[in-house]
Amino acid sequence: MGIFDINKHRYDYFYNFVTVVEGLIPVDICDNLTDRVNIIISQGVIDHVKHSGLGTDAVSDLGGEYNHHIFKGPDIRTYLPELNAIYHSIVPLISLITCSDAVISPYPLSDINIKAYPPGGGTLGLHYDTNGITVLLFLTENTEAPLRMQIERSHPSKKENWIEHKNIYAKKGALLVMQGRKTLHDSEPTITEQKLSVVYNFYERHDTYRHEDFDGFVYYGKEPRKLNK
Ligand SMILES: [Fe+2]
Repeated sequence: MGIFDINKHRYDYFYNFVTVVEGLIPVDICDNLTDRVNIIISQGVIDHVKHSGLGTDAVSDLGGEYNHHIFKGPDIRTYLPELNAIYHSIVPLISLITCSDAVISPYPLSDINIKAYPPGGGTLGLHYDTNGITVLLFLTENTEAPLRMQIERSHPSKKENWIEHKNIYAKKGALLVMQGRKTLHDSEPTITEQKLSVVYNFYERHDTYRHEDFDGFVYYGKEPRKLNK
């Protein structure tokens, strides 16, 4: 892993739209959290998001398939409070990497989530994020179901712009920081593995915009309105 290289993280965040800080949380803590997540899911108190084809432009979604359990902000604060402590404690780190006045989310349902992708088709449809800064903490180590990013590229020597495809596999305890508003992304369906991503939403202090239909769509599969309607 080596010394923490802030310039490398800034470079990757700005020019590749994503950077990964490996080993933020020790593996044994991730395993303990994973065990507790699975116990809570088995108790039947966590919503299962399963829908497809509902997304619209207004919520920056291309209408793909969703299949995962979702812990919402209140679930995290009730069952896994240390994930909330991590959320607050990384604000300075996120500000340093993104060179911005990063703030935690003012939306209590969506500020912290866990997306728990079950083996055998756990997935998340192609979308842009609506919050300014997206941060993921991976609790599992995966050899499948990467985060797939589409990065728009251009160069004066080329006639046309092109899309660079980038796949990022979850590494246990790693923190990923992404410009999710600028890059289309999804999670490839799982095959045999479970994948657990803690999703931390950050914003910039001057821009905490969130579409009013967004949480109903993401969490409850309620059809959002289109833009300008
Ligand atoms: Fe996203």
